[in-house]
Amino acid sequence: MKVILGPASTALGEKIAELAGLEKVPVAHRTFPDGESYVRLEDNVQNEQVAIVQTTSTAQDTRLMQLAFMADAAKRNGASKVTAVVPYLAYARQDKVFLQGEGISIETIARMLQAAGVDALVTVNIHAENALSKFPFPAETLSAIPLLAEYFVQKGYKKAFALAPDKGAMYIAEQAQAVLGGEAGHLDKQRDRHTGQTTQTAKHLNVKGKTVIIFDDIISTGGTIVGAAKILKEQGAARIFTACVHPILVGDAEKRILDTGVEEIVGTDSVPSHVSKVSLAPLIAKALKAQKSG
Ligand code: R5P
Repeated sequence: MKVILGPASTALGEKIAELAGLEKVPVAHRTFPDGESYVRLEDNVQNEQVAIVQTTSTAQDTRLMQLAFMADAAKRNGASKVTAVVPYLAYARQDKVFLQGEGISIETIARMLQAAGVDALVTVNIHAENALSKFPFPAETLSAIPLLAEYFVQKGYKKAFALAPDKGAMYIAEQAQAVLGGEAGHLDKQRDRHTGQTTQTAKHLNVKGKTVIIFDDIISTGGTIVGAAKILKEQGAARIFTACVHPILVGDAEKRILDTGVEEIVGTDSVPSHVSKVSLAPLIAKALKAQKSG
């Protein structure tokens, strides 16, 4: 197996290849003056299984096209199997028809990737596992929550309260709790499907005087974490941190979150940024090694 270093995740791809003991395939890429993408594999993939590491955050559409073009290039150059390793999978949140007239975006992406030559998908903390059923080939999601929780254990916050900002993310809080060894709980969140606005409500949480870490899959505008942090303050939490797998952090999200008194935002290199303090490389390398020997 070889690892194709997608332009969106070159550093992560290199780390994965090193940890898994796999050869790397560099990718030449550029953008044409009209905005179209160009990619070229710079090593031989004939008769090789390949894993293309390419996240699809930030300029999502361009990243998806680059991924499709790399898959096509791999197949045309004789790759025997193409696994797309997509830490942040764009469009996964539109995994059903919420309002009449909509499509199912993630199903369109799945079909597009299949047409391009992708045979399998590995992603990380997909928003809802239901989205995996839209893929016409094997698709799996890994969880980076234990790695994020371990970061806080190393910093001395064992027994911190793990909070999920909504009920759907309770599994995330429970995975964190298993590492932290403290309590876990969740808030309730409602989303207006027309405006996208969310409102959060709190039941009583046992957080008074405690260190609380809010865990989520994605931080996008930061609105969810800001709302959760305000509720935690009202309920007397002593210290608040937040962690997410995909730190998209649109606009001034980081500032808005820190302004509420959250002490630190921790993310992974799913979306490379200065808050990407935890690498997904060990998690993905292990999954690829299992695929290789399986
Ligand atoms: C949605 O339910 C996700 O789990 C996240 O909570 C959401 O995407 C975060 O978005 P934002 O940062 O814009 O509130």
